[in-house]
Amino acid sequence: MPKLQKAIVARAGEYQIRLCDRDDIAAVIDINAKTLPEHYSDHFYYEILAEFPETFLVAELGGQVVGYIMCRIEYGFSHLRRLGLARKGHVVSVAVREEHRGRGVGTNLVLTSHAELAKKGSTESYLEVRVSNSLAIALYEKLGYKVTGRLEAYYKDGEAALVMAIQIGQ
Ligand SMILES: CC(C)(COP(=O)(O)OP(=O)(O)OC[C@H]1O[C@@H](n2cnc3c(N)ncnc32)[C@H](O)[C@@H]1OP(=O)(O)O)[C@@H](O)C(=O)NCCC(=O)NCCS
Repeated sequence: MPKLQKAIVARAGEYQIRLCDRDDIAAVIDINAKTLPEHYSDHFYYEILAEFPETFLVAELGGQVVGYIMCRIEYGFSHLRRLGLARKGHVVSVAVREEHRGRGVGTNLVLTSHAELAKKGSTESYLEVRVSNSLAIALYEKLGYKVTGRLEAYYKDGEAALVMAIQIGQ
């Protein structure tokens, strides 16, 4: 049976950003293993994809997956308004293969996730980032994320995380 055309949701130069598919998970796991110290079980990726398929995106070039972003949608205390509740996008993980960095793929994955999260009713997006990850922090600040908290010893190796959030949609 011919493969269905995978839905493209955005473009970043020559890269296509589209919804992740079960067939992409092996590449996503490989990118994660090579780029981040935080790894998850294979089951975790499939579970996020099954539960939040609209906000699990991949960037592709010439049929090769070169980056991904996966987000959960949660309901709880707002990171941006005191005492308010909000539907929030939570960026669980985002990464781009090293040889494809600096070409706007990361920026466009995050921006496209905002659009897809907003379509699902999220009014804010938030994430945790290592305090030492100055490149990622600069990227999020460039997009308008603000530091809203700090989690000491958040990572297994004891490093702290900054919590960063941004209003999206509306
Ligand atoms: C953070 C990350 C996703 C950004 O991806 P990216 O595709 O390089 O992002 P962009 O191309 O949009 O560029 C972001 C910034 O990287 C910098 N950059 C430029 N050239 C670069 C290169 N060759 N390599 C790396 N970074 C470069 C630029 O300063 C750019 O900022 P600018 O838009 O002000 O010029 C990527 O660096 C990555 O996968 N890092 C490892 C995983 C990680 O830390 N994820 C975040 C966890 S919270």
